[in-house]
Amino acid sequence: MSRKYKIAVAGTGYVGLVAGVCFAEIGHRVTCVDIDEDKVNMMKHGLSPIYEAGLEELMRKNYAAGRIDYTTDYKSAYKDADAIFIGVGTPMLPDGSVDLSYIETVTRQIAESVEKDCLVVVKSTVPVGTNDKVEQLLKDFIINDVRVEVSSNPEFLAQGSAVHDTLHAARIIIGTESKWAEDLLMKIYKPFNLPIVSVSRRSAEMIKYASNDFLALKISYMNDIANLCELVGANVQDVARGMSFDERIGSKFLNAGIGYGGSCFPKDTMALVHLARKHGYELRTVKAAIDVNKDQKTILYKKACRRLIKFNGLKVAVLGLTYKPGTDDLRESPSLDNVPLLLEQGAYIYAYDPVGTENFKNKYPEGKIGNGSVTYVKCPADALKGADVCFIFTEWEEIKAVKPAEYKKLMITPLVYDGRNIYDIEEMQRAGVEYYSIGRPGVSLDRYNHITLAETAATE
Ligand code: UGA
Repeated sequence: MSRKYKIAVAGTGYVGLVAGVCFAEIGHRVTCVDIDEDKVNMMKHGLSPIYEAGLEELMRKNYAAGRIDYTTDYKSAYKDADAIFIGVGTPMLPDGSVDLSYIETVTRQIAESVEKDCLVVVKSTVPVGTNDKVEQLLKDFIINDVRVEVSSNPEFLAQGSAVHDTLHAARIIIGTESKWAEDLLMKIYKPFNLPIVSVSRRSAEMIKYASNDFLALKISYMNDIANLCELVGANVQDVARGMSFDERIGSKFLNAGIGYGGSCFPKDTMALVHLARKHGYELRTVKAAIDVNKDQKTILYKKACRRLIKFNGLKVAVLGLTYKPGTDDLRESPSLDNVPLLLEQGAYIYAYDPVGTENFKNKYPEGKIGNGSVTYVKCPADALKGADVCFIFTEWEEIKAVKPAEYKKLMITPLVYDGRNIYDIEEMQRAGVEYYSIGRPGVSLDRYNHITLAETAATE
């Protein structure tokens, strides 16, 4: 039987809360710390502050079993913990660098609270060298005569599959500077029964950025190839399939689309470019990934502008607001790049998203905005009814379930711009839908001569 440890987790976002719950699930005794009293009360009642499949069940199960608790009282949580995992946010500053202020605050709280030897483990994504700074801060502010070391343990979970990704991670990376820290982390992670890669702290910090930025690069590369495919008449999905059989390339993250979003890839690509620059190095590959992604996000809008000329007075169906399915997160979502462009032109937007609507309302309240307006609807059909044009930004199952014939039946003009390559081109053509997607053979406009848009007609 492996030993059970007393673990404290600072921060209850995607990284902290999921880690805490999974540590409890494998038998450790966990206290999650957050500064927000309401959030803590919510969690005690088994409600997750983030939308994540399977998380609430595990929260309730482990809370009932007494293996996890939540508190704002960091002192009591940190004072006798064997290990304290830091999972607070590291947002991006305007210059692309990383805001470490939450990490610093938590570090000082740990320094003033610990009453026994313990390991501080940085899980948040932080620039190389941050663990050293955390250790120095601890030394500067520690009150009691105890041994406190710092180690790096980056997180690789993806939103929407966070619990699964943690319990079945491809690998666990631990970055330590002493045998004591390495042994303790190995023991904490033993019950997961997963491959553990043990490296130095700086290498561990770098592995996180190098992994995320490689994935971002892979996506931008496929988007670049997709744009070329369109020009030369190739199909990027077939190209990706053909590439995927080569094990050196692999089959994942080859989906061309409307650009990557979320709280990680955009931030982590900028951060690494910034870190490199600080050291006098220009990270050209990652910079290229950022450039391609920036243009990709509005590629459908630009295509539609060539076709429609302007959106003034058109009813525009927007299907999908979140940056990917399985999350209510809107951060760096393509919808946030496109909706303002459409509103600026006076479009009447009818938006559907299965879970992201409430968050979107905070940015774009329902009603008139500038020359246009936003209306939120409860199903894709309500967005499509009487629409002149439709944009698909997220590949939710609920959106994928819309049959090609429904676009033809419900829309005034069945004109669809799909940023996620959801549909078979032939099927859409057969259904009589004028369909544009990413990196796949374009439709011949001759085929759609029967489709007339009021606005297009007026300007032509
Ligand atoms: C990403 C990484 O996948 C995780 O390993 C990492 O732990 C996490 O960042 C983090 O640093 O915390 P996440 O941002 O949740 O996870 O989402 P992904 O599933 O990686 O998707 C990111 C973006 O790439 C989405 O906008 C998605 O639509 C896009 N994407 C993904 C593509 O455009 N094409 C693909 O083939 C795959």
